[in-house]
Amino acid sequence: MNFEILEKTPLYDAFSDLGKRIFLPNGIIYWSGRAKKEADLIGTIGTAFGYERDFIEGGTDDWTPCYLPEIKKFTELNVKDIVPYASIGGLAELRKIWKDLIVRKSMYNDEIDKEKITHLKKYISNPIVTTGITNGIYLCAKLFLNSGEKIICTNKRWGNYDNIFTKNLGIDIKSFQFFKDNKINLEALKTVIFEVGKTQNKIVMIINFPNNPTGFVPSKQEANDLIKLIRESQAQLKKPFIIIVDDAYESYVFSEEALDISLFYELQQLKEDIIPIKLDGVTKELLMYGARIGFVTIGLKPNWISNNDERKNLIKEINNKLEGINRSSISNCNHIYQAIVVKIFQDAGIEKIIESRNKIKELLKKRYEKINLELSNISNPDISIDPNSGGFFLFVNLNKDKYKANEFADHLLKNYKIGIIPIEKQAENINGFRIAYCSIDINQISEFIKRIKSALTNY
Ligand SMILES: Cc1ncc(COP(=O)(O)O)c(C=O)c1O
Repeated sequence: MNFEILEKTPLYDAFSDLGKRIFLPNGIIYWSGRAKKEADLIGTIGTAFGYERDFIEGGTDDWTPCYLPEIKKFTELNVKDIVPYASIGGLAELRKIWKDLIVRKSMYNDEIDKEKITHLKKYISNPIVTTGITNGIYLCAKLFLNSGEKIICTNKRWGNYDNIFTKNLGIDIKSFQFFKDNKINLEALKTVIFEVGKTQNKIVMIINFPNNPTGFVPSKQEANDLIKLIRESQAQLKKPFIIIVDDAYESYVFSEEALDISLFYELQQLKEDIIPIKLDGVTKELLMYGARIGFVTIGLKPNWISNNDERKNLIKEINNKLEGINRSSISNCNHIYQAIVVKIFQDAGIEKIIESRNKIKELLKKRYEKINLELSNISNPDISIDPNSGGFFLFVNLNKDKYKANEFADHLLKNYKIGIIPIEKQAENINGFRIAYCSIDINQISEFIKRIKSALTNY
């Protein structure tokens, strides 16, 4: 494929060597697609087919993918929805459903925000299906960063970022101190942006709200300030800004003051080359952790193209790049779970699915309120709780002169039978522990905190 339009965009300028090099060659997919339309007899794809009667007792005359009869006991889905390969970029119906869901989650009003909705629908890539968000993060890192280049991130972050960026790919994490005076530390962020801007032809940043491990979500004012900082920095540096928006915990926002919508939307509406990439997953959002279905969706800019045909071609070119990465790494994603997600949306509709999920959100919200209340009743100058308004976790900081997080976790486990996740990173000024209140029954929260309180005293 030629990337005539893509090559002229700042998105292309921001690509890594691999991002520039990768594409999905015509190969098997091209020839089997053509054969489906043009051939009488097809011998293209490596999927065994047969008449069902020839391999299943009492089978029909259907020409179907061959399958083991034992599989049927566990699902009512048609074998055609389970056994064959899913397409490289994911099932077309699923990609369409997810795009609709992205539009729905924007909370734009049909009447008041007509222009914004049109802009959102037109200027995003077709969501590509990845093996969970983890694989989406890996894909973005490969697409934009060479080994030795830098990605900006908060000091408190999901531990797997370090595995992916640093250990696996040799990318440097440029971190900044997340909080100052219980707010996001924009000054520190600005410093690292300009530091990275000195040596790199692009800024790549990953943000995650509600955050793992802290549960932090910016207030509306903080979100505005953050966007203002990004815009001002981009205007000064005049380089593309790639903002990877890890929306793993999107929608789980429990406080009225917090921003209850992904930052992706505001960034997508910006005219300048601030390019947001939305990472979603059915993992937490639809509570299907083991399904391993995620999505990568890139925000595009109108000034990259001059007419509608170019826009459509740009989306095709980007899709080819993304599918090229999928094909050369995971090939394609789990079919049965893609089929299940399609079926639940087709059967129940977006609103009903959101309603069902919101029951769980309510459950978590009560725990969030309870655990914060219980923690606020501990008066101990050696601990502090990071600001938190959503997600599945919160973070307790420990005075490093008195407690060592790993040792404290051991003490808590051995003597109080309480499990938490300690994080101790001197270089990044972190010494504390994450509590996953998503997994504690509300009636046990008082006891949980009581034991932590005793453990702090008897350390
Ligand atoms: C911030 C964050 N991003 C991504 C993920 C991974 O999501 P997935 O299981 O879809 O790969 C997690 C899971 O814990 C997470 O906390």
